[in-house]
Amino acid sequence: MPHSADAIWQSIADHPRATLADLFAGDAGRLDMLSHRIAIGGTDMLFDFAKTHLDAGLIGMFGQLAEAMHLAGMRDQFLSGAKINTSEDRASEHPAERGMGAADSVDQAAMFHARMAALVEAVDEGVFGEIRHILHIGIGGSALGPKLVIDALCRDSDRYDVAVVANVDGEALSEAVANFDPAKTLVAIASKTFTTTETLMNATSAIEWLREGGVEDPYGQLVALTAAPDKAAEWGIDETRILPFSETVGGRYSVWSSIGFPVALALGNEGFAAFRAGALAMDQHFATAPWERNMPVLAAFADLYYTQTRGCQTRAAFAYDERLRLLPDYLQQLEMESNGKRVKRDGSALTRPSAPITWGGVGTDAQHAVFQLLHQGTHLIPVEFIAARLSVHEFDEAHHRALLTNCFAQGAALMQGKSSDDPQRSYPGDRPSATILLDSVDPASLGALLAFYEHRTFANAMLLGINPFDQFGVELGKEIAKSMGNRQSGDFDPSTAALIEAAGL
Ligand code: F6P
Repeated sequence: MPHSADAIWQSIADHPRATLADLFAGDAGRLDMLSHRIAIGGTDMLFDFAKTHLDAGLIGMFGQLAEAMHLAGMRDQFLSGAKINTSEDRASEHPAERGMGAADSVDQAAMFHARMAALVEAVDEGVFGEIRHILHIGIGGSALGPKLVIDALCRDSDRYDVAVVANVDGEALSEAVANFDPAKTLVAIASKTFTTTETLMNATSAIEWLREGGVEDPYGQLVALTAAPDKAAEWGIDETRILPFSETVGGRYSVWSSIGFPVALALGNEGFAAFRAGALAMDQHFATAPWERNMPVLAAFADLYYTQTRGCQTRAAFAYDERLRLLPDYLQQLEMESNGKRVKRDGSALTRPSAPITWGGVGTDAQHAVFQLLHQGTHLIPVEFIAARLSVHEFDEAHHRALLTNCFAQGAALMQGKSSDDPQRSYPGDRPSATILLDSVDPASLGALLAFYEHRTFANAMLLGINPFDQFGVELGKEIAKSMGNRQSGDFDPSTAALIEAAGL
């Protein structure tokens, strides 16, 4: 007799709570059960969940929850291109960008990629003159992915300098173009909808900057990356420089599509293909591995255990690698915009907490800033460490050894704690962490890592019954901002009216 999800949640909540130390002491096979090395795209990734409170009993119960919530069926529908985003009546087909999904979607994505690769080659061959700089203008999902991937993988690239501008604050644009020569700059306008006010305002100012910098035909140096090619054409961009992608690729899942154009430029077409191939390897793992050895799903079990039964309202991700320093920013959008929801797919109220707040930073810096709270504060915060076994910088290996030993020491300290007669100097311990260790920060590993996070976010959503692919919550503020210019201050609440007046708007 199958159990209802509520009954399973109750069993999970009632499951006896052992400390991490006791869990290790009581199960010699714990590491085998919770620490997995998986070969992905020709490289190894180690996922260690042994320092979380998951045990065989909990994994079994979460397995039952997966069955009750039809996780396998939902995953298969998602990966085969069914219309899983029900509130917007469309599929969510970012895996097709990597080669998995409905055949026609995969073909279409391949065709768009070929078109993009040809434009990259044309830029390389000097068709647009001597291009040295790429100004990528986009916001949210149209910026965070390219920014992260370029920062992680293109530090030593001598191909192009890329600046990513998101904020409508002119300071951002001003900083981005400070060292750029207008004559040698290609401007990529990245917007799925081609309606986002910040992006279009920055694009308009960039055109002005090109013109003032002596470029006679600024439109000749524009490229559009969009799922709305007609709008880009109306905006004045030549059809040959519009790189489309499918409407079914969500903004925060779009780095694999033509939104990744600056990545392909900075990394080269081969590197961008390797990045997508790494993601495809993770798609295949997610599609086939049993739940208890399926890394995105196991991670979701741990996420849900802490938010649903231990009252954790946040989770923290620390990259112990400068090259991944933008990962926490990327994860914030991915996880919070996807799963920060208060209703389920059918519109009924979600009666339990949804996604926790994702935050984090880079180690070792964060150890000297925020780790005090992790070790001794009153909040229980599941921590995730992301590191790579190999480094590439030119300095002594001692740097990387120190980086990794610090990373592992933090996980050990959070778990072990330390008692002292002096309460100020005692650490409670039993604080959970997970560690993801890549072999190296390379295109395939990063692709696999980002796909892992996408699928973990999906698994979390399915196990809660929510739709991770819409984001209606961002609309109201946009609407009010748009209408502000046309309304009297009296139309607003007294606080907002006073602010408008104080700023002289
Ligand atoms: O405001 C939220 C959002 O719609 C994100 O989901 C999206 O990534 C971002 O804005 C940018 O949208 P667009 O790519 O259409 O400019």
